[in-house]
This record gives sequence, C-alpha cells and structure tokens, in this order.
Amino acid sequence: MEEKKAVKTVVSGMRPTGRLHLGNYWGALRNWVELQDKYRCFFFIADWHALTTAEDTVGLRDNTRLLVVDWLTAGLDPERCVIFRQSDVKEHAELALLMGMMTPISWLLRNPTFKEQLLELYKARYKGQEDKMRKAEGVTRALAEAHGHEAEETALHSDMATYGFLGYPVLQAADIALYGADLVPVGKDQLPHLELSREIVRRFNRAAGKPLLVEPEPLLTSSPLVPGLDGRKMSKSYGNAIELGEDLKSAEAKIKKMFTDPKKIKADDPGHPEGCVVCAFHRLYNPDWKTREEECRSGKTGCGACKKQLFELMSPGLADFKARREPFEKDPGLADRILAAGAEKARAAAAELMSAVNSALRIR
Ligand code: TRP
Repeated sequence: MEEKKAVKTVVSGMRPTGRLHLGNYWGALRNWVELQDKYRCFFFIADWHALTTAEDTVGLRDNTRLLVVDWLTAGLDPERCVIFRQSDVKEHAELALLMGMMTPISWLLRNPTFKEQLLELYKARYKGQEDKMRKAEGVTRALAEAHGHEAEETALHSDMATYGFLGYPVLQAADIALYGADLVPVGKDQLPHLELSREIVRRFNRAAGKPLLVEPEPLLTSSPLVPGLDGRKMSKSYGNAIELGEDLKSAEAKIKKMFTDPKKIKADDPGHPEGCVVCAFHRLYNPDWKTREEECRSGKTGCGACKKQLFELMSPGLADFKARREPFEKDPGLADRILAAGAEKARAAAAELMSAVNSALRIR
C-alpha cells in the first residue's frame, strides 16, 4: 500500500436513477472515457447512495443494469476500468461505519447539499397537495419551533431527513478512500462533498496514527453546457432530453423540435445564435460552428437547414452509441456478468485496504 504508485487512481460513481442523456454524456461520461486510459479507474454504481433519498426501491435493480448499459454505450470498457456496483462490495459499508464513528454531526449539518436537497425533496413530495403539506408542516413546524429552529428548517425535522441521508458524505468518503483514490472526477456541485471526504480522511489518519488513507483531490474538467430541446438545462424530469443511444429517427425528430431564435421566422431573417439550442449543439458537434453562427446572423441560412446539418453531424456518434448497446439487447445477462466480474476486482482491492485499516485501528 505504501509503495509509490506509478499510476494515479481515479474513483467516481453515479446513482442509478434512470436512463442517461447527452447532458450526462458531455457533462461527465465523455471525460470518464478518456480517464480510463490514463489512470487506474474504478467506476461504480452508487445504489446504496440512491437509497438515501428514495421513497421506495422499485426499479433500483433495473436502473443499475441500465446504468451499466449506458456506461458502455458511452465508451467505458470493462477491460480498461473496473465497473462495479457499490452494494456488491460490503467493505464500502464497513469503512463508512468506521468513518461515521469519527465524523462530527456538525460537519454533516453544515453540508449545503444536504439542506438544499432536503428542502427540494420535501417540496416535491407535497407538490399539488398543499393542504397535506400545511398539515405536515403544522406538526413539524411546531416541533421545530419547540426546538428553537426557524420555520425553514421544518424539513429537517420531517421524516425525510434520515440518518442515511445526513450520512451521505460519509459513505462517499468511504467509496473514495477504499481504493486509495488520488483523483475524483466530479462536477462543481460535488465539491462540498469532496471537501468533507478530505476532512474525514485526515481525521481517520490521525486516529490510525499514520497516513493510511489517501486524501483525494477533485478532478474538475470544464464541460460544455448542454441545453435541452427547450433551452432549459437538459434533464430527464423536464422531458427535454436526447437519450444516450436514442434511435436515429427519434433523435432527428427531436432536433427538428429544438428551440431556435423566435425572431428568425423566414430563412433569410438575421438570427441570434445566443439562446438558440441548435447553435449550442453546433458548438459541440461542428468544428466549424463559427461559420455556422455567422451565416445565421447574416440570414444566409435558415433554421431548417441548420437543423438538418446538425443531425448529419450527430448521426455517426449516435450510431456508435446504438451499436454499443446492441450486445445488451441480444444478451440480457451481459450487464450482470460485467458487474460480477467488476465486483471481484473491486473486492480484492477493498479487502486489502480494510485489512490495513482494521489493523491500524487495532480492531484486529
Ligand atoms: N454523490 C455523487 C453524485 O450524486 C455520487 C457518488 C457517490 C460519488 N459516491 C461517490 C461520486 C464517490 C464520486 C465519488 O453524483
């Protein structure tokens, strides 16, 4: 463990919440695909993390398989990185439990993601049932006020604020430290979690009396903003996404529906690329997007032609995605076999670290 590692280790995970889309691809996955050839990479499906905010577990196992398929669709290769499911490697729970013994609750309560997400979920749960929410709030607010809290903290006193949800960053710290990750590719929204991981690792190392666990660094890569068909952020819940591995025909139909400059009515009207979804996509797929924008501004090309060209530019990539999905359609057991093989590799690394951890903490 202590010998100098020639190649750095990368660990990252995603919660299995349903099919991925091009926003996920450009935002994270494309980067992971590149990392798998540069580093020793562990990519896992954070199914336990999905439980921290889930109302039920319907679809959890299926979403896990779907995520494996999406990852391979994007170009991750189980020969070049370790792909596994968190719950298959029990050491994640063991290390998280030990880390939980050393993590002050105050650190967790300070985590901005916890409060924001909790409030969002709380509102979502009672959407369209404001009377029920008022009732629930009446009870919990009375509770909150009795404890001297602000009304905004109502959610904190609701049954949605679980122990597991509060402890999300502890489990995440364990995920990362279990493989000695030097680098963790994450989005900006995850930085508070990663900072907590670093703090937990430092405290753990103090207890262990030696720098046993590696303090991870975030790996922030600038990723382009991918708008959805309607111009808002691409998101499954907005229904404005193009899925990874989407059929060419339906992708073409979606491109035709993309939001463009409403002032450009006739093809030769001068257009405004800023705010136009088709133009945003040209920036991603068209090496010569600048010319495209000039032609839009001058009224040389209309939106129809611009969309047609975009579809042509996107087609080869979309076809590659589809082709990589094919083996999974023919062989329904393939995703499970990939997970089983990945779990074995991950377990070997995790078991080695846990043996060092248990000995350093004088547990055995
Ligand atoms: N919190 C991450 C997310 O929601 C998922 C995650 C869980 C993760 N454990 C991790 C990411 C460890 C990186 C490293 O996107």
